Amino acid sequence: MQPTHGASKIHLPGVRHLVAVASGKGGVGKSTVAANLALALKAQGYQVGLMDADIYGPSIPIMMGIGEVDPQSTQFPLERYGIKLMSMGFLIKGTQAVIWRGPMVHRAVQQFLTDIPWGELDYLIVDMPPGTGDAQLTLTQSAPLSGAIIVTTPQEVSLVDARKGLEMFRQVRVPVLGIVENMSYFIGEDGKRYDIFRHGGGSKLAHDAGVPCLGEIPIDPRVAECGDTGEPIVHKYPDSPVSETYMQLAKTVVDQLTKAGKQPELPTLKL
Ligand SMILES: Nc1ncnc2c1ncn2[C@@H]1O[C@H](COP(=O)(O)OP(=O)(O)O)[C@@H](O)[C@H]1O
Ligand SMILES: [Mg+2]
Repeated sequence: MQPTHGASKIHLPGVRHLVAVASGKGGVGKSTVAANLALALKAQGYQVGLMDADIYGPSIPIMMGIGEVDPQSTQFPLERYGIKLMSMGFLIKGTQAVIWRGPMVHRAVQQFLTDIPWGELDYLIVDMPPGTGDAQLTLTQSAPLSGAIIVTTPQEVSLVDARKGLEMFRQVRVPVLGIVENMSYFIGEDGKRYDIFRHGGGSKLAHDAGVPCLGEIPIDPRVAECGDTGEPIVHKYPDSPVSETYMQLAKTVVDQLTKAGKQPELPTLKL
């Protein structure tokens, strides 16, 4: 079982590890990382769920290739590529905007966690909205998070916000598993590496904050293509360098959580 934290009110008996994928800024690839990490964990033999906590801007339905569903006649969680899924996007039409106030968002996030029959899961990955708003508060304060992964791009504007995201988890004592630098560099057709956004800011932030750098994911136009066509790159191009990075990321996350879950052993005493 994962450590529960002081203010936890939500109990998730079937879920071994609840892991948040967060960032400060939007558009850094959080949902992409959440979806591909979920698929990489599944490929390594784990039971995985993916919960889209981005109530105002859900992108998991499109990324996982789920078209419009009739919420009245649909059994949730949905399942795609062997991953259990829940998203606000399943409950509203694609063009509709959610204009809820904080308490509604709070309730929705709570219901996604507790009213959806997730069953037995090794990992429930939560795709967080950007920033430090209502959904983040609900999750960090009342859900039993095992850890958080912070996604950033190498640019300073993204790093500054990533640091704020990191601090939010620290304040509520959710372990930060580490930083993922997405869109880190680009390998051209000439085989050369181009640091489009100046690479390395993620590892510097990780170093400064005293957390591991979990991986650097290159820019690959196939990532965007896969996101738009509903078949994440780990599924569509499992042998691509990006997918290999995700497989490694999944292994690191598993190791980190296994280590965190182990109680320090007491020394054996000769009595
Ligand atoms: N490594 C990458 N290479 C190329 N495009 C990427 C990469 N990571 C994400 N993208 C694209 O960037 C856009 C934003 O990603 P998304 O996951 O929606 O970000 P967020 O959830 O942080 O707002 C999407 O179109 C996605 O396909
Ligand atoms: Mg997103």
